Amino acid sequence: MAMTPEQVVPWGRSLDEYQHMFDLSAQTLQAKILGCGDGPASFNAELTAQGGQVISVDPLYAFSADQIAARVEATSTVVVEQVAQSVQDYVWTRFRDPQHLGRHRLATMRHFLTDYDAGKAAGRYQVQSLPTLDFADGTFDLALSSHLLLLYSEQLSYDFHLAAIREMCRAAREVRIFPVLDLKCRVSTYIEPLQSVLTSQGYAVTLDAVPYEFQRGGNRMLRISKL
Ligand SMILES: C[S@@+](CC[C@H](N)C(=O)[O-])C[C@H]1O[C@@H](n2cnc3c(N)ncnc32)[C@H](O)[C@@H]1O
Repeated sequence: MAMTPEQVVPWGRSLDEYQHMFDLSAQTLQAKILGCGDGPASFNAELTAQGGQVISVDPLYAFSADQIAARVEATSTVVVEQVAQSVQDYVWTRFRDPQHLGRHRLATMRHFLTDYDAGKAAGRYQVQSLPTLDFADGTFDLALSSHLLLLYSEQLSYDFHLAAIREMCRAAREVRIFPVLDLKCRVSTYIEPLQSVLTSQGYAVTLDAVPYEFQRGGNRMLRISKL
C-alpha cells in the first residue's frame, strides 16, 4: 500500500491501553504477538522492554524516525481540536479532557520514536500492509488490530476486512480487533456479515466485553479463531 507521510494521522496508544482494549492477561502478554497497524503506539517498545515477543507491521514504517516525528508534532494539535469539538462522544475517565489526552498521546509516540530505529533493525517494526502478511502459517499466537479494522469501515471495504481477518487468522491462532465502532461511534455494519461468513467458513467469532471505553459505547472487541 503506497502512502505518503502526509496521508498518515499518527496517533499511538500505550501498552496499558492495549492490555485493557484487548483484555490481555499477564500470561497472554508472554505469547508471540503480531500487531497489525500499530503505527506510533508504544505497545511494542514497552512490551519488548518487559521481555515480550511482539512484531508490529504498518506501512508507516517505510518512513524515517524524523519523518514520523514531524507528522506526530504537526498533527497532534489538529486531532486534539477535533476531539474537543465532540467531547460528548467520549468517556472521560482515563483522560481528564482533550488536552490531557493529547499530552498522553504525544508522550506515547515519543516513547515509540526512541525505540524505532533499534526495533526496525531487530525486525520488530516491519513495513507490511494488510490484507497480505509476509509470515508463515501459525507464526503467532495472537494477532491484534487496534484502531484500524472496523474503525475505518467507511474508508476500507468489506472485502478488505474479510481478506485481512482471514490473513491474520492464517498467521496467528487468534485475532482480536478493537474497537468495533467506526469513526462516528456507530457499531460497524461489517460485524454481522463478517460473523455470518466467517462462522460458515469454520471460524469461531465472538463479541466480548473489555475493560476499556473511550469512544462512548466502544467497550467490546471482536475475537476470531479458526476452529
Ligand atoms: C489510527 S492508527 C492506530 C495505531 C495503533 N494501532 C494504536 O491503536 O495506537 C492506524 C494505523 O494503521 C496503519 N495502516 C493503514 N493501513 C494499513 C494496512 N493496510 N495495513 C496495516 N496497517 C495499516 C496506519 O499507518 C496507522 O499507523
